[in-house]
Amino acid sequence: MSQLRLLPILMSYPILTRYQPAKDSFFFGIKLNVMSTNDTIVTIDGPAGAGKSTVARRLAQRLNWEYLDTGGMYRAAALLGLRNGVNWNIPAELTQVVRQHSIEGRDHRTFLDNEDVSEEIRTPQVTQFTRFSADNQDIRAIMVDLQRKSAQDRSLVTEGRDQGSVVFPNALCKFYLTASPEVRAQRRFAEEQRKSHPDSYEEVLRKINYRDEQDRTRPVGPLVEPADAIRIDSDGKSIDEVVSEMERHVRRRSQETLS
Ligand code: C5P
Repeated sequence: MSQLRLLPILMSYPILTRYQPAKDSFFFGIKLNVMSTNDTIVTIDGPAGAGKSTVARRLAQRLNWEYLDTGGMYRAAALLGLRNGVNWNIPAELTQVVRQHSIEGRDHRTFLDNEDVSEEIRTPQVTQFTRFSADNQDIRAIMVDLQRKSAQDRSLVTEGRDQGSVVFPNALCKFYLTASPEVRAQRRFAEEQRKSHPDSYEEVLRKINYRDEQDRTRPVGPLVEPADAIRIDSDGKSIDEVVSEMERHVRRRSQETLS
């Protein structure tokens, strides 16, 4: 791996270590850092358009667990910036606004001060500005905290880019869901046809490649494939096949932690 490609991983190291919950244990009087498995957390990370949201929702339903859309939280932070007319070139302005409001993912929806903004955060304008919240180190720290709090006392299937690598490094099961850029673009292109002015396939593919680049080169919380994640390539697989494969892994891991 080139030094340039290693840079985002190295730069995220302080955040990664700062947030790793560890439990103390001792070996002949020497303190060891041992991470215990959090058997009520399943993480699904991967690039845009891999089908994470649909799969995570269905997996949560099958397990009778709750579902957390962490991308929705970064989108809600960007919506706050738009509503408050922040100066996007001054990251601290957005952070200050975000600190004054509540962002919450629950019941498969995203809430801003208890207002359901699940539809509004999907507009192209919010999508365009979300990089300002996702690239903001202080906002990431706030979100990581919120995501950990929302996992307290409940079983959660959580989906995003950094859930297995940073937020829940000791999750019961970590999945990395991916698909080729062409297949992801084809899926998005099919969705586009419902719009009055759909993008061309070439435009959709260009946007997918651009977002992949942004996700992977983000200095904090970049998209990485955790070494201990189960990689699932959804090319040529139905949603049901992917969900069933994940469910088998989760149930097997649950059995293993019980025995
Ligand atoms: O998944 P979704 O497209 O809704 O994510 C919105 C944005 O938030 C994306 O640009 C993604 O890179 C970012 N994101 C993130 N960390 C997460 C989830 C999403 O940086 N855990």
